Amino acid sequence: MRYNKIDTPATKHNSLQDSYGRKIDYVRLSVTDKCNMRCFYCLPAGFKGFETPENWLTFDEIERVIGTFTRLGVRRVRLTGGEPLVRKNLPDLITRLSALEGLEDLSLSTNASLLSTYAKEIKQAGVSRINVSLDTLDAAQFTKITGNGKLDQVLAGLQAAKDAGLAPLKINTVAMKGINDHQFIDLVKYCADMDFTLRFIETMPIGSTGRNASENYLDLQRVIDQLNKEFDLIPSLFSGGGPARYYKVKGTKLHIGFITPISQHFCETCNRVRLSVDGTLYLCLGDEHKFELRHLLRAGISDSELEAVILNAIDLKPEKHEFNSKPENVIRFMSMTGG
Ligand SMILES: C[S@@+](CC[C@H](N)C(=O)[O-])C[C@H]1O[C@@H](n2cnc3c(N)ncnc32)[C@H](O)[C@@H]1O
Ligand code: SF4
Repeated sequence: MRYNKIDTPATKHNSLQDSYGRKIDYVRLSVTDKCNMRCFYCLPAGFKGFETPENWLTFDEIERVIGTFTRLGVRRVRLTGGEPLVRKNLPDLITRLSALEGLEDLSLSTNASLLSTYAKEIKQAGVSRINVSLDTLDAAQFTKITGNGKLDQVLAGLQAAKDAGLAPLKINTVAMKGINDHQFIDLVKYCADMDFTLRFIETMPIGSTGRNASENYLDLQRVIDQLNKEFDLIPSLFSGGGPARYYKVKGTKLHIGFITPISQHFCETCNRVRLSVDGTLYLCLGDEHKFELRHLLRAGISDSELEAVILNAIDLKPEKHEFNSKPENVIRFMSMTGG
């Protein structure tokens, strides 16, 4: 059943604010916890313990929940996963979400392996921009990091995205000591050539995979120092709409962002919550604070009750993550909540 607009007290407030005064206007929506890759810092090799289909939110349920969020003031939604493009009929969901009143920005995070097939379709359905994970341009290393990924497929997907006009396109690179730290200069050159934005991310201790990857942790200040030996990085006011701090590479149009959840957290400006495929609302990436919506949706909760539940759940959002003091805190894998 499609959602019908109603007038409720929450509609009049039209704003979600947590108990620390942060405005929440961004939802990351995991449409599947499955993935066709096994990046070693995200999902364990051979992992099969995915959520069963009867527990996946249906497209009707997703549309209803996201419609509630947009009435409460959410303006941006990012589709993620797992790998969002493995969810069947994803373009249909994109069409439905992009029609929601109040939604200004619908984006998608992907590993790009299926973009050659879907880039045009998702653009036409309403995704305006995408983020793509790419840790190396060395084909053998790429397969090693991703378990089974094929670099040529990903590069073809990136070209298809560029041709389809999915812009700006951001490349996300998890910076890892001894894994891809010899590849950063090539990635900078590639992104400058392709007119992409490049962002480096510190590894986070999410799930046992993320914790194991902590031995490869690289403080991004060291990456800045490394790149500055080869290029001229100029601090930039470019915001990119997220927590990255940006530099411009002199003589190019390239902006490079640095996302430092570990060495310099940005929790005081956090504006987002996450909805997993089974309908669990996670209030913080670095914490297990959560609220389960699926049972309520299936028990026939009314629209105004759903608004009230979400307004209350936002108060569970913790002040900050505890990656440094309690690295064992987050049991779930990153693929469940989607980064
Ligand atoms: C979980 S993936 C989901 C979307 C899509 N499959 C992709 O790879 O872009 C989202 C982002 O999380 C990042 N990620 C996964 N595990 C991580 C970890 N332990 N620490 C830091 N980033 C991580 C990935 O590199 C990717 O950029
Ligand atoms: S980072 Fe993305 S592509 Fe890699 S295993 Fe996790 S969900 Fe899949």
